[in-house]
Amino acid sequence: MSTDLATFNPFDPTVLQCPFPHYAQMREEAPVLRLDHLGGLYLVTRHDLVLEVVRDPQLYSSQFGGASMPMPAEDRAKMAEVMREGYPRVPTMLTADQPDHTRYRRLVAKAFSPRAIADLEPEIRRITTELLDAIVAKAAAAGGTASVEFVEEFAVPLPVRVIAKALNVPDERLADFKRWSDDSIAGIGTQLDIDGRVAAERGVNEFQHYFAEQLERRRTEPQDDLLTNLLNARIDDDDPDVTDRRPLDMPEMLSIVQQLLVAGNETTTKMLTEMMRLLGEHPDQWDAVRADPDRVDRIVEETLRLSTPTQGMFRIVTRDTELGGVPLPEGSRIVIVFSSANRDESVFPHPDEFDPDRDHVRDHLAFGKGIHYCLGANLSRLEGRIALQELAARIESFRLADDNQYGYFPSFMLRGLTSLTLEMTPATVTA
Ligand code: HEM
Repeated sequence: MSTDLATFNPFDPTVLQCPFPHYAQMREEAPVLRLDHLGGLYLVTRHDLVLEVVRDPQLYSSQFGGASMPMPAEDRAKMAEVMREGYPRVPTMLTADQPDHTRYRRLVAKAFSPRAIADLEPEIRRITTELLDAIVAKAAAAGGTASVEFVEEFAVPLPVRVIAKALNVPDERLADFKRWSDDSIAGIGTQLDIDGRVAAERGVNEFQHYFAEQLERRRTEPQDDLLTNLLNARIDDDDPDVTDRRPLDMPEMLSIVQQLLVAGNETTTKMLTEMMRLLGEHPDQWDAVRADPDRVDRIVEETLRLSTPTQGMFRIVTRDTELGGVPLPEGSRIVIVFSSANRDESVFPHPDEFDPDRDHVRDHLAFGKGIHYCLGANLSRLEGRIALQELAARIESFRLADDNQYGYFPSFMLRGLTSLTLEMTPATVTA
């Protein structure tokens, strides 16, 4: 299959169902592809070129903010009006450049430290066990095998509840919390109409007011939690890299919490779902991981490579330059396509195959690279590892239900299945 690359539309829902043959063609014919019909947007699809971009954050800015897709002036005014009802949306980590970015990463690292992430392990295991208990009970009630809609019954609730726990959100607000997360990503990489965008921004306002109140409360009643740690985070006196030593203000904290919420939920859901699809398609790998649970890490990494949840990310070119021989004028918008880089045959032989035993299985770019390297990489790896350990321990066998449609959300940025039904047979079914 060969596409006319000049008219290629990366947002086309049909393309988004399986963009990989198109990316393979781009890597071969036009690894820096200019799309005139999308306002001169460039797609960067080769591994070495994606690395070149992420390693030079001064030349390739992350200050894409809300300007990732052009919008008519009238719609922009509507959006501004609804946003005035919330706190200012300030660009922090993901959409900030140095030196501001350094300050944010330093401060957030104090609150969201490797230690804080490791401390979540028992909670992740508890939530996983609870979700699996429900599946096992369902199977028992059904006579041994349960039909499980894995997205809703496992892959959505696990990361939502973990990040909610980290942010100390009470159980009765979990449904709101998930809705706010959905609202926060509503416009990312999709062609949402203005009414949809306005409704989503209202949800973001609601989220901001909830967390602002929680943060304010912790000024006088500190708790042992991430929100209190964000409030109290300070730049070290002897840190030579940060000149602006202000602690985080309210809009900055809200922006950071929102990023944790968005990044922590959707991406991990997609990783978990895709992992089970791949294992369903490769029952030998399922049997192997049941026999040897040490294989979980390799399976998580190979899932991230082959089914990269964050397909791509924007950058803005800050001065005239050239990438892969293609001139890029100052101000150009580019998308670095991680999911294509992860199938670059020059780095990953037989790239379309699921092969957890491949060399350099961790060399994928699913978490990016450089200064914006995913802050939650360790957390999502931990969730993936625990989920698979517990699933392998408790589920004897499973198969992909025949009526699966394997439809993907029509988002260019976040790639994941809308649903996945698994016929699951637990190892021991209690009557
Ligand atoms: C499988 C799950 C995940 C994937 C695939 C993923 C992917 C990514 C990628 C590709 C980037 C780099 C973006 C860029 O270069 O512009 C990134 C950044 C980020 N991720 Fe993740 N992420 C995941 C989970 C998480 C989790 C669980 C959290 C937090 C709870 C998180 C928080 C962040 C933040 C805050 C950034 C911005 C970092 C910065 O700009 O300095 N992510 N993520």
